[in-house]
Amino acid sequence: METKQSELPNLSELKKVAELLSRSQNTVVLAGAGMSKESGIPTFRGEGGLWTINGEPPLNQYEIFLDNPKQWWTEKFTPTNTDSFATALDQSKPNQGHYALVQLEQLGIISHLITQNVDDLHRQAGQISITEIHGNRYWIRCITCNSRWPKKSITIQQDLLPPICELCNGILKSDTVMFGEPIPPNLLETCHSATQKADLFLTIGTSAIVYPAAQFPIMALEKGIPLIEINPETTPLSEFALISLKGPSGKILPEIIKLISEIHTRKV
Ligand code: OAD
Repeated sequence: METKQSELPNLSELKKVAELLSRSQNTVVLAGAGMSKESGIPTFRGEGGLWTINGEPPLNQYEIFLDNPKQWWTEKFTPTNTDSFATALDQSKPNQGHYALVQLEQLGIISHLITQNVDDLHRQAGQISITEIHGNRYWIRCITCNSRWPKKSITIQQDLLPPICELCNGILKSDTVMFGEPIPPNLLETCHSATQKADLFLTIGTSAIVYPAAQFPIMALEKGIPLIEINPETTPLSEFALISLKGPSGKILPEIIKLISEIHTRKV
């Protein structure tokens, strides 16, 4: 389907971003919920976001889990209502934006992708170097040793809840990070070292207000690394970005790929 021109930033801005990316060998990306909007998954904040409409969920989810992990797991096995967000996640497939990021990785431009999304779509699209800083809904993690396994690779017995880690006897939980839960330090270290080595930083579809994820573009700016933002709305990072491309990432990223191919063709 042809992209409506009104959904895209002007061509000269797109060309500048394509030029910057084509010269980069070490772009680090921070992606957020907006990245999956064109896959049918609503965002949390911003126009039409789940929490913009319904308000934020309780901030003590992790505390509740720790108080009674057995109860949490029992509820997992006996869901009481159908959650339209979970249905959207279950039905989602990677969009053209996800595939464009895979192409940028294959071209040697993107060196690492930090995603706040738990939807697995970057992996399904084929992204290799990736940190799921808020976890992945198809994985399980031990809260003590931080080991992770795909959910389908382990059997959870309903009469033996909560499930226990075979490696350290810690409690297992869904890998998805809850409000109030610390991010595993090894993940933060990977994001930190990737950002330190970046020559360009790209934020896509994130409101950039949730920490520690939002600290990485700030770290990049403090190091003098140019920042590019893709988001239909203004965020706290917009004024610091070298270029802020306003529009949907599922439309903008494929256009950038086309422009990069043109640059490569001109060079041959
Ligand atoms: P938010 O929901 O906070 O922000 C989504 C952003 O996507 C907004 O800035 C929108 O303007 C933008 N957006 C909307 N449509 C878009 C499109 N088609 N293309 C590109 N951008 C679009 O999502 P995050 O910043 O990811 O954490 O939120 C961070 C964290 O907040 C989430 O990971 C979640 C929540 O707490 C956990 O669940 C642990």
